[in-house]
Amino acid sequence: MIKPYVLPDLKQAQRRQKGETPIERTLFDIPEVLRTAGKGKTYFIRTYGCQANERDSETLRGILEAMAFTSIESMEDADVILLNTCAIRENAENKVFGEIGQIKRLKQTNPDLLFMVGGCMTQEEHVVNRILAKHPQVDVIFGTHNLHRIPQLMLQAYYSKERVVEVFSKEGEVYENLPVSRNSLSKAWVNIMYGCDKFCTYCIVPYTRGKERSRLPEDILCEVRELAYQGYQEVTLLGQNVNAYGKDLDLKVDFADLLAQVAQCGIPRVRFMTSHPWDFTDKMIEVMATQPTIMPFLHLPLQSGNDAVLKIMGRRYTADAYLDLVNRLRTRMPHLALSTDIIVGFPNETEEQFEDTLRILEKVRYDNVYSFIYSARESTPAAKMEDNVPQDVKEARLKRLNAVIGAHALEKAKAMVGQTVSVLVDGPSKKNPAIYSGYTDTNKLVNFVPTTAQTGQIVHVLIESARTWTLQGKQVAN
Ligand code: 5AD
Ligand code: SF4
Repeated sequence: MIKPYVLPDLKQAQRRQKGETPIERTLFDIPEVLRTAGKGKTYFIRTYGCQANERDSETLRGILEAMAFTSIESMEDADVILLNTCAIRENAENKVFGEIGQIKRLKQTNPDLLFMVGGCMTQEEHVVNRILAKHPQVDVIFGTHNLHRIPQLMLQAYYSKERVVEVFSKEGEVYENLPVSRNSLSKAWVNIMYGCDKFCTYCIVPYTRGKERSRLPEDILCEVRELAYQGYQEVTLLGQNVNAYGKDLDLKVDFADLLAQVAQCGIPRVRFMTSHPWDFTDKMIEVMATQPTIMPFLHLPLQSGNDAVLKIMGRRYTADAYLDLVNRLRTRMPHLALSTDIIVGFPNETEEQFEDTLRILEKVRYDNVYSFIYSARESTPAAKMEDNVPQDVKEARLKRLNAVIGAHALEKAKAMVGQTVSVLVDGPSKKNPAIYSGYTDTNKLVNFVPTTAQTGQIVHVLIESARTWTLQGKQVAN
């Protein structure tokens, strides 16, 4: 029997149910016939977007490998292709549709190819409708809430030869039972919570990833301890807004408590992202300042430096409150590196409002800034606002913004010349295997001449020169 499609519904996704989210711990179910389905077969996953997607792809890899599929580097030769997509801006979506179009050709040369598309984009009604109408080469469409269903969906697709569509609009359980195949042996992503309840007016994430659901502290700590035991050197705790950690639990535990405990698990480098400036507490600053394993780096999205724009964005802080937070952070941690996100060309943003953003940048002088032109996302409140800012004005603003960003980044990088820094080694560079690369504690990319350095080690590097986005140096004795 062909199962009916389960289609996404953004209105339903917007609703929030009260109460704790149930946890799924039962043994992960792979139907008997699929346990060896991938023997001799290969899979290829392309991941778009943020770290949450990167981590989801590691779960997808875990699931496919549990069915005996093996990973392959080239998409052309794969038996299963999976795109894990991002919906944050229109250009991200256009890239995915371009890729979906390309894969049609592969499907023609290899009719047995199984092509699956999932992630944030497929949580949107218009995307699923477009794939259904125009892209018959897609065999399986799934969403962010049903990764655990991949084996069953593949089974359906293999047996029925009909396309399979299952996208849940509402989050289900917190899944503690899914396999994982990590991309790195030294750096690991660890989810601490899923979803977002902030509903910034421009953002699609609360719709595509559902309500805030925290994992239990003991589950997180158990995972981090296991990673320490396996020799991991760095963990990054992940959540759309980690500051909200624990608010949905009945445990009186907050992010600062969790962070303090993770810092003691034996992992040399602990990072976290992302923090909303609105609920960043002094208790969190204190934990960051006193725990040596927490890296002196913070991603703190500003979005705009103008109070009226921040208000319409639904950000719940003013530019002054943001600057005050930066001051408190820097007073306690003078060497803290800061990065941020900025959106230019929000509906009706004036020249003066844009210049307010530039002024904040001049005051804070970030190490790194991710800058974006506003992109209307269907069903978000901002998408309904009329917008009097022409696209070429938005583009010109982005250009001006990027010039300031680059100047500050270069200034920060140059200040490091002559310093000896600790670097977690990622390995030899692809272009020149005689040069190694890695990241400093402040998250700066370093290319260096190694002496003893091995992938996954933390070594000392003397910085000899600086470019805007990279430092160059040589390894020195630890
Ligand atoms: N348009 C442009 N940028 C956006 N972001 C989120 N939604 C949009 C949008 N609709 C940016 C924000 C956020 C980052 C992850 O992406 O700056 O912090
Ligand atoms: Fe989007 Fe705002 Fe949530 Fe970040 S905090 S994911 S920008 S809604």
